[in-house]
Amino acid sequence: MSDVAHSAKTIHSREQKSRNVLLTGVTGFLGQALLERLLDNPNTTVHVLIRPRRGVSGQRRLAELLDNDAFAVWRERVGPAAVAHTLAHRLRVIEADLGADLPDLPADLDLVLHSASLVTFDEPLDSAMAVNVGGPAGLYQALLRAGGDPHVIHVSTSYVNTERTAHAYENSVEHDLDWRAELDGAARTRTQLERLSRLAEASALTGEDPMPATPAGREAWVRAQLRERGRSRAAELGWTDVYTLTKALGERVAEELWAGSGHRLTILRPTIIESALARPFPGWLDGFKVADPLIAAYAKGRLVGFPGQAESIIDIVPVDIVVDTAAAAAASPGLHGQARYFQVGTGTSNPVTLGEVRQHVMEYFAEHPYTDRQGRPISPKPWQFSTPDQLSAWSRRRRRALTLAQRSLRLAPGIRSPRARIRHSLAQLDVLDSYVQIYRSYTCASTTYDDRNTRALLAAHDPNGRNVTQIEWRSYFQEVHLPRLVALMDSYRARSKNQRQLAAVSSADNGESAIPRSRPRREINHPRTSSVERSARSA
Ligand SMILES: NC(=O)c1ccc[n+]([C@@H]2O[C@H](COP(=O)([O-])OP(=O)(O)OC[C@H]3O[C@@H](n4cnc5c(N)ncnc54)[C@H](OP(=O)(O)O)[C@@H]3O)[C@@H](O)[C@H]2O)c1
Repeated sequence: MSDVAHSAKTIHSREQKSRNVLLTGVTGFLGQALLERLLDNPNTTVHVLIRPRRGVSGQRRLAELLDNDAFAVWRERVGPAAVAHTLAHRLRVIEADLGADLPDLPADLDLVLHSASLVTFDEPLDSAMAVNVGGPAGLYQALLRAGGDPHVIHVSTSYVNTERTAHAYENSVEHDLDWRAELDGAARTRTQLERLSRLAEASALTGEDPMPATPAGREAWVRAQLRERGRSRAAELGWTDVYTLTKALGERVAEELWAGSGHRLTILRPTIIESALARPFPGWLDGFKVADPLIAAYAKGRLVGFPGQAESIIDIVPVDIVVDTAAAAAASPGLHGQARYFQVGTGTSNPVTLGEVRQHVMEYFAEHPYTDRQGRPISPKPWQFSTPDQLSAWSRRRRRALTLAQRSLRLAPGIRSPRARIRHSLAQLDVLDSYVQIYRSYTCASTTYDDRNTRALLAAHDPNGRNVTQIEWRSYFQEVHLPRLVALMDSYRARSKNQRQLAAVSSADNGESAIPRSRPRREINHPRTSSVERSARSA
């Protein structure tokens, strides 16, 4: 690795008096890294806003979180007694869902790190609006009610500006949308669709297959419609997808409700967050991100097309540099009543292209081939780039052929297995379309993101600290990111093997599988790997 400094700045490193911090999104990728850093300062109490999920309380989710590998170095360093003390005394759970009403918040907060968000690009319109726009609205209203004056760091994304401008500066996104109207409109759309889903004639109106009659089937139909509305509303208003639209509106909420009420506000806009350079440990990553499913497919010899151009910049940033920036912003919070903007990425100051990534990846797997289930080294197929338009055109042609075949098979009712195969292939095409869409926004967009404010902030905070210009991309990929990616691939493989074995035992026991379906992780750009691989293979 290059001589990227292992600077271990704490959040609030300049002030060692006791501090009260509120952190949202702690169970997420960035949230874990933020908490890991907050734990450095023994005088900090962290209130973590967590929603209970599937019958697991917020407190238990937090306890389980501290067992994750993000905290392994910390656990090792402080020892079990300090871990227990931290859980009992320094971490306080606020059980709440940002899509609903919030409880009263503490009045004596010094800092709020708002990281929680729905980050899938094709989320249904109403839920994306409820969490990414209604969430900050509820949070800042609750903070106003509490009467304190914390500095708020609102985590957004650089992609709020994608394809709206050629070079995005670190300032407010220009638009005159009314976030309240959009939020209400999305909720009304759901109510209308629910009503529609109950009407028998809905199938005729939409030209779809007959409306599913069960409540679950109708809800699935409503969600699919809301996904489509999210896509179309974002396109109509000039954003790439519902995620970037709602993140842009979320920024406006923060500007209006928090800075507009005279408080200090920092808007932090990372690009694509990737493996840590150094902290919590080199390569730390909690799941596949953006290009990772395709890199994994390449290593397994299953990638035949990568949507993008060799010369396209892929703007990724190590997670610890995002945390460094939050730490630097927290240490010098800016002025009351004004919002500041920091874009944290590499595309402008130290760009890496998809062609260079391909080179680093090919070299790595030539030297360390991935092995198949029998332990034989896999030799990958050449990695070729296709434009998203080429892949979309291929997908449309294949969909037409499959739909025609499906229609003819309806006339031959006895034949089940080809029909199932066609349904499966159509589902794979949906995945292919979704990941082409993802790459169109994140690796094929022409917007670049200015990061002068961020670099000045980091330099002022710690002149000898890490910054993105120090990243040497070959070392980053080959010594940091790819070894971790391979470890994740191994663990996914072991998990799926265990699940197959358990399923076999379970079905032998009682005739049905007792294996719960694992929840797909919410991350930007995360069609499940196996589906991506299959889609890419068939493409
Ligand atoms: N990852 C990236 O590449 C990237 C890039 C740019 C910007 N960002 C921004 O960085 C922030 C963190 O992203 P991430 O990658 O850490 O996302 P993530 O891993 O998907 O985590 C999202 C977090 O938000 C929480 N959350 C979602 N809905 C919630 C709700 N209704 N109530 C309470 N909590 C809720 C999740 O909690 P549960 O565990 O309960 O679901 C989870 O803790 C987001 O604001 C995102 O827009 C991320």
